[in-house]
Amino acid sequence: MTPPCRQPARRRTAVLRREAVLATVPVAVAALLGATGPAAGTAGAAGAGDPYFPLSGNGGYHVRHYDLTLRYHSDARELDGKAVLAARATQNLSRFDLDLTGLEVTGVTVDGLPAALRRHGQELVVTPRHTLRAGRDFRVTVAYHGTPKPVTDPDGSADGWIPTDDGAFVAGEPQGAMTWFPANSHPRDKSSYDITITVPQGRTAVANGVLLGQRTAHGNTTFHWRETQPMAAYLATATVGTFKVEQYTTHDGIHVYNAVDPREASRAAPVLKKLPSVLEWESTLFGPYPFRSAGAIVDHAPDVGYALETQTRPLYDSAPDTDTLVHETAHQWFGDSVSLTAWKDIWLNEGFATYAEWLYDEQHGGDSAQESFDALYAHPASDHLWDFPPGDPGGGENIFDTPVYARGAMTLHELRKAVGDRDFFRILRAWATEHRGGHGTTDQFVRLAEQISGKRLDGLFHTWLFTQGKPKNT
Ligand code: ARG
Ligand code: ZN
Repeated sequence: MTPPCRQPARRRTAVLRREAVLATVPVAVAALLGATGPAAGTAGAAGAGDPYFPLSGNGGYHVRHYDLTLRYHSDARELDGKAVLAARATQNLSRFDLDLTGLEVTGVTVDGLPAALRRHGQELVVTPRHTLRAGRDFRVTVAYHGTPKPVTDPDGSADGWIPTDDGAFVAGEPQGAMTWFPANSHPRDKSSYDITITVPQGRTAVANGVLLGQRTAHGNTTFHWRETQPMAAYLATATVGTFKVEQYTTHDGIHVYNAVDPREASRAAPVLKKLPSVLEWESTLFGPYPFRSAGAIVDHAPDVGYALETQTRPLYDSAPDTDTLVHETAHQWFGDSVSLTAWKDIWLNEGFATYAEWLYDEQHGGDSAQESFDALYAHPASDHLWDFPPGDPGGGENIFDTPVYARGAMTLHELRKAVGDRDFFRILRAWATEHRGGHGTTDQFVRLAEQISGKRLDGLFHTWLFTQGKPKNT
């Protein structure tokens, strides 16, 4: 596919000429030139290279930290924002893109100097005064405002900043982060975050991590949140509403912050009560909880139709049932701490979180995982469940579809039967531990399973993850 922003041929000659010069000067002089001379850079790619969402993310730099300062006028549904990104160039960079859609940008600086900017669909193209050298840290400031609108995903669902009757439901999987802040919006790039958000007094703004401070003045309240652990942009939230807040610390020292829409409170309470025991139970299975804080945001957003595992603090569109709580909490290990490198591998998130539900049921007086498996396996070959294999969903429209969740979980159950309980739980734990705070691919998971069990498992995974149609002979 043709990248939308091609670099001019002129640039390439510049690179060649520079190399020719360097080849003729002594090493010490070349080193000096490298440190101080004008660098020849190339444009960062407009996408992270994900075939399902080719424009999500960007090339040429990594964002180490986002500092977002937001003000939401919830009645007018207007957002003012200032984003300060601490980034590092991964190539000599003549210009780079951020993902941002809608919203008006009023100014961009790079290292304090005004930068040229161009909008091109969801790409915000930034050309700094000077080329940014590979390995160098730089700071980008973007001032913006407007009425944020969600994007419509290929599966038809709304994603991003979704206005509600009392604020906004802010969820970003897979591509909605760009509806409310300029981002390198692909899970390949993980960053820490400060999110400071001002809302009318009486409303609460809930983001990820720890609440550092809350201050009311002149009819507005400002909430300052910080997430220090690496986080993918899609897992960031700044959900606004009228919420009842509950805070406590678990036995393990995890700070819990729950925000619940009063209309959902009575149905949410008995489920949220289980959060500490679910965290503890999952920690025994998957290894220590990967973050310092936890909690839930239970909104009243009946049109959304899904929940999201926003990092440290999952977001529910209504009071969740226990299985949903278990599912989103399991994502903190599988999806949030261990991130995808490509959306095609989505079963590593959804299959695992679904299997966590099966395990919870099995160990809490419900159906065994085998019974959950059997109930699904009974579906005839013509059923939607078998429409595509979970390891190769075929496109962005399928990543949250039943085969990914259900057949993804069935794959793990097949693995469990093949290697036995002891090795199976070792594999799950090793996966979460070895890739903690980072990334994992399907190939790496298969190799880990083979290594721990000492068994050849390519046939099993080939059948369950990659073969069209209902697998035979389980
Ligand atoms: N990851 C979410 C879950 O736990 C689903 C997100 C669905 N998002 C969407 N845009 N359809 O199942
Ligand atoms: Zn999920």
